[in-house]
Amino acid sequence: MARKKIIAGNWKMNMTPSQTVELINTLKPLVATEDADVVFCVPAIDIIPALEASKGSNIEIGAENMYYEEKGAYTGEIAPDMLTDVGVKYVIIGHSERREYFAETNETVNKKVLKAFEHGITPIVCCGETLTQREQGVTMDFIRQQVKIAFLGVTAEQAKTAVIAYEPIWAIGTGKTATTEQAQEVCCGIRKCIAEIYDEATAEAIRIQYGGSVNDKTAPELFAQPDIDGGLVGGAALKPDFGKIVNWK
Ligand code: 13P
Repeated sequence: MARKKIIAGNWKMNMTPSQTVELINTLKPLVATEDADVVFCVPAIDIIPALEASKGSNIEIGAENMYYEEKGAYTGEIAPDMLTDVGVKYVIIGHSERREYFAETNETVNKKVLKAFEHGITPIVCCGETLTQREQGVTMDFIRQQVKIAFLGVTAEQAKTAVIAYEPIWAIGTGKTATTEQAQEVCCGIRKCIAEIYDEATAEAIRIQYGGSVNDKTAPELFAQPDIDGGLVGGAALKPDFGKIVNWK
């Protein structure tokens, strides 16, 4: 069965609640499609206004992060129940910015992935190499390690529903998109890694996105690759152009 594309916006630390409503009202008609799942991952405080504003549309709302404990003395964190209670279906886990600025590790990523599945939230699990790693020729070794640890203890049935986002760090917010060949090569490598951990059926089912300076010009070629099942889009997800990315065909 062909995998349905999944195109997600990662709003990062942008948009106040009132700007959220405005942006969703603008984007709602532009991102209408049945060909892809469309997800807006928004800051925690924007989740409720985003859910309200997107009601009746095809937009699903996701979170940008989540903690791996149920509740308690973890000042500033968001619990999985808080997300499911309002209808959040997706959560980005282990974005390179969280790894770099908020000390997330492969181990905390794994705990969060397990917790998300426990609560029926689909994790968008991020991985990606630095420029140095690419130049050293260790890209795939590094990514395989990130993926293998992120999926420790995850069952094949769960993994089939997961989303992996391959985001080379050197391509994030830099305007430097990985070439189509580079992006396809790594996404294919990730799928092989999933086949090794689980089996062919799981590898065929899991959806793998590319992220890093995706725009309406680069999206069509990227999304046409056999192992690229959509994108995780930063800057361009905050503009009307996101509609063109979603309707890339
Ligand atoms: P940009 O699309 O702004 O490069 O960001 C990519 C990203 O980090 C999405 O998670």
